[in-house]
Amino acid sequence: MRVLSGIQPTGRFHWGNYFGAIRQYVQLQYEADEAFYFIANLHALTTLRDAAQLRQYTLDAAMDLLALGIDPDRATLFVQSDVPQVCELCWLLMTGTPMGLLERCHAYKDKKAKGLLADAGLFTYPVLQAADILAYDADTVPVGEDQVQHIEVCRDLAASFNHEFGPVFVLPQAKVMREAAKVPGIDGEKMSKSYNNTIDIFDPPEVVRKKVMRIKTDSRPVDQPKDPETDHLFQLYSLFAPEEAREAMATRYRRGGLGYAEVKTALADLSVDFFAEARERRRQLESQPERVREILGDGGAKARKKAAEVLERARDACGIRY
Ligand code: ADP
Ligand code: TRP
Repeated sequence: MRVLSGIQPTGRFHWGNYFGAIRQYVQLQYEADEAFYFIANLHALTTLRDAAQLRQYTLDAAMDLLALGIDPDRATLFVQSDVPQVCELCWLLMTGTPMGLLERCHAYKDKKAKGLLADAGLFTYPVLQAADILAYDADTVPVGEDQVQHIEVCRDLAASFNHEFGPVFVLPQAKVMREAAKVPGIDGEKMSKSYNNTIDIFDPPEVVRKKVMRIKTDSRPVDQPKDPETDHLFQLYSLFAPEEAREAMATRYRRGGLGYAEVKTALADLSVDFFAEARERRRQLESQPERVREILGDGGAKARKKAAEVLERARDACGIRY
């Protein structure tokens, strides 16, 4: 298994990012033959237009991932733009990409539906993402549910290139964790930076507690039995709670007599403990920026080597190498 995933450095990572994506990155680095994880700064440029901020967020993202358990001895951690081969590969793929395929992709479609102007970067975003994946012969791509469409586009583009020019690319598959495919935010909608409803992994404990207390709940009386499966507070609780505690809590939901405040306190306690070690590691890494840059530098060199091989294969197949 060759695993690859990318994450945009557009702000602090939240619980949705962790349970939907980052937790899988960490697990898979132990199971995969090779794992590549990168910080998608080229993709971030489609929304983040502040140079100082992008620079800072890129290093922050690296520190976050390392603190959360990405091990540079097991996984190649790098920055997307340190592998320029991907941009050439993106062009090779773009020449065979039907406009209609990209018009159906949600990032572009949503922006257009809101009457906003989209640029060519946003429109071709999924092609760059396809190049990201194909450049490393990745077969498994751990992501949250919202990215599945992009992985499908990648498969389509790879298959049609292979069909035209011969077997150059490995067709990848998305790997979605079913129980965390769509982590809800404090308003009950999908947790996302763009909805301002996140609880961030490295929020200080007191901020986490405050946000947890603000999680939206309904106004049914305490006595009334409730179905845990349809309650987003319970869904969040389940992400952190060990199996037994989860079962016990579910039983109390069904029985009635359980107040939401109690669930919130339990969730806040569990989540603060859950990320305590990572928070400590994050603090240590902040004082070692040179070490972080070194890890990214080594990762970039390794990633370039692999991408250069795959790019050569593609150039050769389509007649660019003469
Ligand atoms: P955001 O929506 O906050 O901008 P990104 O789009 O940068 O987050 O997502 C980064 C990764 O985290 C992707 O793999 C995405 O699928 C996953 N992810 C983001 N939000 C959630 C969520 N609420 N539930 C599950 N996975 C998520
Ligand atoms: N589009 C992804 C996101 O917003 C980030 C990304 C870029 C990515 N390239 C990738 C994810 C390649 C997986 C594989 O989350």
